[in-house]
Amino acid sequence: MRIVSGIQPTGNLHLGNYLGAIRNWVAMQEDAAVTGGQCLYFLADLHAISQPHVPAELANNTREMTAALVACGVDAVGGGGLGRAILFNQAQVPQHAELQWLLNGTARMGWLNRMTQWKDKAGKNSEGASVALYTYPVLQAADVLLYQATHVPVGEDQKQHLELARDIAQKFNNDFATPENPTFTLPKPIIPGEAARIMSLRDGSAKMSKSDPSDMSRINLTDDADTILAKIKKAKSDADALPSEKAGLEGRAEATNLVGLYAAMAGITVDAVLADFGGKGFGTFKPALSELLVEKLEPINTRFVALLQDRPALDTILREGAARARQLATPTLNATYDALGLVRG
Ligand code: TYM
Repeated sequence: MRIVSGIQPTGNLHLGNYLGAIRNWVAMQEDAAVTGGQCLYFLADLHAISQPHVPAELANNTREMTAALVACGVDAVGGGGLGRAILFNQAQVPQHAELQWLLNGTARMGWLNRMTQWKDKAGKNSEGASVALYTYPVLQAADVLLYQATHVPVGEDQKQHLELARDIAQKFNNDFATPENPTFTLPKPIIPGEAARIMSLRDGSAKMSKSDPSDMSRINLTDDADTILAKIKKAKSDADALPSEKAGLEGRAEATNLVGLYAAMAGITVDAVLADFGGKGFGTFKPALSELLVEKLEPINTRFVALLQDRPALDTILREGAARARQLATPTLNATYDALGLVRG
């Protein structure tokens, strides 16, 4: 098993990232240690420049996100633990950008035009969007194909990008390789059953996101107890009591999201939450949810704050992780050049 996944170092790590992806990163790292698999997790800083950004903030966010991931349990090479995962930022592994260019010859305009994230982010002003935003999914394909990833733990919103990566791999293998000796492995997305799509606290129809201008829409993993309490208190809900079974949540997007959050954080099913809270209103449920969130997030927060104090240690993790990633990337990149008939020395 080769497990590969990434996160953009823009803003804070929030509960959507944690429950949708990072929790799985940590779980898969434990499995891989047993089965002899390998995990590569990275900060997608090259993706982050596809949208307007402030360079000093990007550099800060890259280190902060590194600290947040380690605080969540990513056991990084160079981090003083067992080093069960390789953690790095793309900018230190130029093979990502190199492979993207090689794959640009295979990716089709029609495929990119269909990407919902491109349509959402470019909006009506696609003429003014950066070329990087448009070719973003090809870089994402390069990220995973470069390492022959077999499994990619992500939230639901990344499914389409992963399907594109498979399409690119398939077409490249068909056009430039043989069935006996394919250049790329087709990666499989690993999407959690219950928490694949955590919604905004202010709008049950929008996903929880770093780009939402309102901080009240999300719980950041760095929020302190008072902030969590205030955000859950203000979270949109409804006036009805909770049902005793899942079917009763139909048509109640905000209630569904809050109950789903509880279930995911407690590690129990939605039905089990409703067995406890059915018949009770949000006046009872919200304080219980806040208490659970504070209890689960406090240790992460404490570790995060401590890690942030030691910038050289964070830089060591990224540097050592990148050195390992560069080694692992070399064979596939060489094979891709060869398959395309590009002469190099
Ligand atoms: P990003 O940085 O937006 O999010 C990181 C991970 O968090 C998941 N996620 C969510 N899951 C559930 N509910 C939500 N509200 C929610 N919001 C975010 C995302 O699905 C993702 O798994 N393009 C990617 C980064 C990337 C990548 C890759 C991922 C670049 N290259 C290669 C996998 C493989 C992104 O912007 O994720």
